[in-house]
Amino acid sequence: MAIREIIILPDKQLRLVSKPVETVTAQIRKLADDMFETMYDAPGIGLAAIQIAEPVRLITMDLAKKTDEERQPRAFINPEVLSASEEMSVYEEGCLSIPEYYEEVERPATVRIRYTDLDGKVHEEEASGLFATCIQHEIDHLNGVLFVDYLSKLKRDRVLKKFSKAAKRAAG
Ligand code: NI
Repeated sequence: MAIREIIILPDKQLRLVSKPVETVTAQIRKLADDMFETMYDAPGIGLAAIQIAEPVRLITMDLAKKTDEERQPRAFINPEVLSASEEMSVYEEGCLSIPEYYEEVERPATVRIRYTDLDGKVHEEEASGLFATCIQHEIDHLNGVLFVDYLSKLKRDRVLKKFSKAAKRAAG
């Protein structure tokens, strides 16, 4: 396992549409291991492969809240939303690729999802609460969508500008 570098806004790779995983190979399981290690180290509750510059449809997640709580690592391969509730819910979201920035985002409160696990088994499941928010946020990453895309143009422009300036400073 290895901790990998997380790419940060405005890195253009974050806008790529990730490719489906054809077969769950040892290479994919190794990538998931790296993603778990990177996610726990950050620390974060969810990570999409593109955030470590790997454009494949793979997500890792662990919603266990406190560090003393037992880990609940979950991996989702080729995840898709099959249906979404009309009921919406609002969560304050953050993203490891947009560090230290948090804003409220409204999304469907419950979604039915389908995904493949690391053993190659396909599952269907209902997600609600934080799980629903997190899986929708991560699936968005696989499609090149970021949570700031849901904010007003004013807020989005402001955060983009802030991170672009920071990137230029770091490069300069
Ligand atoms: Ni994110």
